[in-house]
Order: sequence, then structure tokens, then C-alpha cells
Amino acid sequence: MNRLQGRSALVTGGARGIGAAFARAYAEEGATVAVADILLDQARATAEAIGPAAYAVQIDVTRQESIDAAIEAVRERAGGLDILVNNAGVYDMDPVEAMTRRSFDRLLAVNVAGTLFTLQAAARLMIAQGRGGKIINLSSQAGRRGEALSPIYCATKAAVISLTQSAGLDLIRHRINVNGIAPGVVESDMWDHVDALFARHEGRPLGEKKRLVGEAVPYGRMGVPEDLCGMAVFLASGESDYVVAQTYNVDGGNWMS
Ligand SMILES: NC(=O)c1ccc[n+]([C@@H]2O[C@H](COP(=O)([O-])OP(=O)(O)OC[C@H]3O[C@@H](n4cnc5c(N)ncnc54)[C@H](O)[C@@H]3O)[C@@H](O)[C@H]2O)c1
Repeated sequence: MNRLQGRSALVTGGARGIGAAFARAYAEEGATVAVADILLDQARATAEAIGPAAYAVQIDVTRQESIDAAIEAVRERAGGLDILVNNAGVYDMDPVEAMTRRSFDRLLAVNVAGTLFTLQAAARLMIAQGRGGKIINLSSQAGRRGEALSPIYCATKAAVISLTQSAGLDLIRHRINVNGIAPGVVESDMWDHVDALFARHEGRPLGEKKRLVGEAVPYGRMGVPEDLCGMAVFLASGESDYVVAQTYNVDGGNWMS
């Protein structure tokens, strides 16, 4: 289908995992896609695998000059920007007694400030273009409630839901829709990292936590990045023009809100 024909999209954290699946789905729907990541070589490989509609851009969402340079690279290459996915994110396990300011600063810098200031830079360009736009922020089921071992990560993902609401209400007058996706548990490098941390913290064999959380999903298995693409395309397309400041759970039934 061609639901995004002629649009220019930028996906942060697009080199792998959920971001790479979104970049591919957008290209399949006719968009030109910037696969933007701190890992430039991996972003290049992902863009190459997607095909001529995709190209790699380096971005470190914790650095303003890097955000500005990436937005400018997209403007030059694709003539503008219609869709931003704020997908870059990091996880760490920080039980209250062990949490550190270093981890707090890193998770806040990537997941919250990275989302907010990339959104700002994209919105400025979209407003100047005067043709509206779509901004999609990746939250998590972790943003819907606390988790004993992940208070900082949960707080960052709750902040993403809040930013989505405020920015969504502010920017809709420019016909820029800001919405979010809250995945549950999704196979990716990030979840391999989460599994390894649980193994260490709870004394489990590697892979056991992953198996258990997958079995607990009402749908019957862990998600894969492709499970989220339908929502990501919908929120990037004209079909969602009247959807404003919402965050949708796409999690196999893990959480209801
Ligand atoms: N995997 C899950 O179960 C799950 C569940 C809920 C929410 N999420 C969220 O979905 C998003 C994608 O997760 P994933 O599982 O694909 O993770 P992932 O670790 O596989 O991919 C994240 C990507 O972000 C990039 N990145 C990290 N820091 C960056 C920075 N400073 N600047 C630019 N890029 C940076 C990484 O290089 C990587 O390519 C994240 O925001 C994550 O919090 C994931």
C-alpha cells in the first residue's frame, strides 16, 4: 500500500529493533526514511537492507547540535520532514537502594530530553513548512505503572506519556499530531539486555525471564517489532488526523488503560 507516499520520515534509534521495523514499514508505505542512530554503521546497514527509500543519518539525541544536524540533513536530503518517530531509548535496572545519579542522568538524557528536544527541532521545521506533520513517541507499559527494579526507566516512560499529551495539545493548531505507542515486551537487543540484568539480579539462567514474561502475555507470546508496525503506520498516516495527544498500548493485552 502507499499510505505514506511522498512523505519524509525520520526514525531515531532506527538502526535495529523496533525502530528498524518502523523504518522498513514506512518505506514499504512509500515514504523516504532517515534511519537515524548513534550507531552510524548499523544505521547504514539497516538503510541499505531496506532499499533506496532509506538512508542513514547519525544522531545522538542527548546532544542538541547532533539533533539539529540530523534534522538539517533530512531537510536537505528529502526536502523536508513530515514524520518523526522518537524511538531511541535506553534501559537500566536500578532498584532503589542501588540506583545512581549516573544512571538517572543517562536515562533522563536519552529517553526524556532526547525525545523532547528532537520533537522540538522537528516541530519547528514542520511549523515552518506549514503542512502539518506526525510525531510518534515511544513510551512503554513501564510508563503506565511502577516496576520494583526499574524506577528510573518507568519514570522516563511516564514522562514520555506526559510530554506527548502537552506537546500534542500545543501542536495540533499547526496540524501536527503528537501521539505515542506503549509497547509491552518486545524481542530486541534491549530485551536481551533486560533479560541479562534480571538473570544477574534474580539469580536466574539467561533466557528464563524472557520466557516467563512471554508466557504471561495474554496474547500468548512476546511481541516482535513487526507487531507494532500497524499502529506506527496508522499514527503516521492521514487516517489518524483526528487523533491527538494519545498513547496507545500495543502489548498483546498486558495492560489496560
Ligand atoms: N523492547 C521492548 O520490550 C520495549 C518495550 C517498551 C518500550 N520500548 C521502547 O521502544 C524503543 C525501542 O526499543 P528497542 O527494544 O528496539 O531497543 P534497542 O536497544 O534494540 O534499540 C534502541 C536503538 O536506540 C539507539 N540509541 C540509543 N541511544 C541513542 C542516542 N543517544 N541517540 C540515538 N540513538 C540512540 C540504539 O543505538 C538502538 O539502535 C525504546 O524507546 C524502548 O524504551 C521497548
